[in-house]
Amino acid sequence: MPRIRIEGGHKLSGTIPISGAKNSVVALIPAAILCDETATISNVPDITDVDDLENILIHLNAKINRTTGKVEINSSDIINKEITSELSKKLRASYYFMGALLGKFKKVDMYFPGGCSIGERPINLHLKGFEALGARITEEDNHFIIEADSLKGNNIYLDFRSVGATINIMLAAVKATGKTVIDNAAAEPEIVNVATFLNNMGAKIKGAGTSTITITGVKHLHSCFHEVIPDRIEAGTYLILASLIGENLKIDNIIPNHLEALIAKLTESGVDMEIGIDNILVKEPKNYKSINIKTLVYPGFATDFQQIMATYMTQCKGSSTIEETIFENRFQNLYELEKMGAIIKVRKDNKKATIKGKTKLVGTEVVSTDLRGGASLVIAGLIAEGVTTISNISYILRGYDKIIEKLTNVGAKIEII
Ligand code: EPZ
Repeated sequence: MPRIRIEGGHKLSGTIPISGAKNSVVALIPAAILCDETATISNVPDITDVDDLENILIHLNAKINRTTGKVEINSSDIINKEITSELSKKLRASYYFMGALLGKFKKVDMYFPGGCSIGERPINLHLKGFEALGARITEEDNHFIIEADSLKGNNIYLDFRSVGATINIMLAAVKATGKTVIDNAAAEPEIVNVATFLNNMGAKIKGAGTSTITITGVKHLHSCFHEVIPDRIEAGTYLILASLIGENLKIDNIIPNHLEALIAKLTESGVDMEIGIDNILVKEPKNYKSINIKTLVYPGFATDFQQIMATYMTQCKGSSTIEETIFENRFQNLYELEKMGAIIKVRKDNKKATIKGKTKLVGTEVVSTDLRGGASLVIAGLIAEGVTTISNISYILRGYDKIIEKLTNVGAKIEII
């Protein structure tokens, strides 16, 4: 199995360009089948999640023209058939075909989605939303058949501000009859990017980015060109890296606003950064003090940053804490960091961890447990003494476009072996 090998301790300088957002493009591609003409999406990252979605579209007989950074999708000859378990399980975002196919054909036949094992990750809120629009759901052994005679707008209150459920209900409701209101909706920037895409095709969505989204159904969605927003999680990953080992290291092509909570915490800890219109520059690392973070829905501190922040906290003076409120099993990477010398304590209920610092990390063999856990080990390997090898790297390649190339370009000694 391929592994990542890192020789740590090399200062990094130059510019890291950020790619399109994984958590937006993985919704945009399924959403494109709602278009009755051709949808063109640009700033598409080269990650394996996009490959897996492309395979589902090919399976459904959609026409796809994918070039570097762009994909054109025409679904006029699409065949609405079962999405096999094998295809469904490749990634979490396959669940967006539920909302899109239900919205387009009032029928979908697929299996429970895959994705990182960072918690139970049920889809009950998605299904509840589909039922509120008039769908009937049969499920057997994780095989779902969802169908409706017609879809009718309705008021839907989400018990939790779920990203996936908010987007999936939006996809199912854009062509429903009448008005749908999603209350207690999630407000992540990726949701705004998907709503803008649908509105560019002629949908009528208001309030995306707030906790109340209103969708008035339309009959036809026409062709459009749409750009994926920059990936705030990729940007935050490299900003944390720059804070630890950057020397005039710039993170470029970003929307700083989307990183507000992370910037606030890094600044509180002592990071000195220059924030530009679409970039952030870190001149040199400083001595950092310990901090406490609690993960929350947007615009709170993103759960996708907490694992990478754990690596950062090993370099802060004192005891830092992480309270994880979104997922119930997202501390697995900490035990890998311990192998590198980190001093960590996880509370019995697996909801809170304490990280002591400043600690010297030493390279060794570690295992990537999930996407962001894997990223936390790449950062650890880059600041550690000696050589680190990381296995299970397919997790990392699912969400980080050209990670080896981008890091090598700023002076990292990193390769896939
Ligand atoms: C999205 O996952 C992202 N994935 C995750 O990023 C991200 O961590 C998460 O949102 C939160 O921001 C994609 O966009 C593909 P949720 P999703 O629905 O949609 C519970 C990464 O590293 N819940 O907001 O799965 C759920 O179990 C990934 O890029 C239900 O109980 O997140 C979780 O505890 C990891 N029932 C919480 O809500 C439901 O029907 C948040 O889940 C849906 C969710």
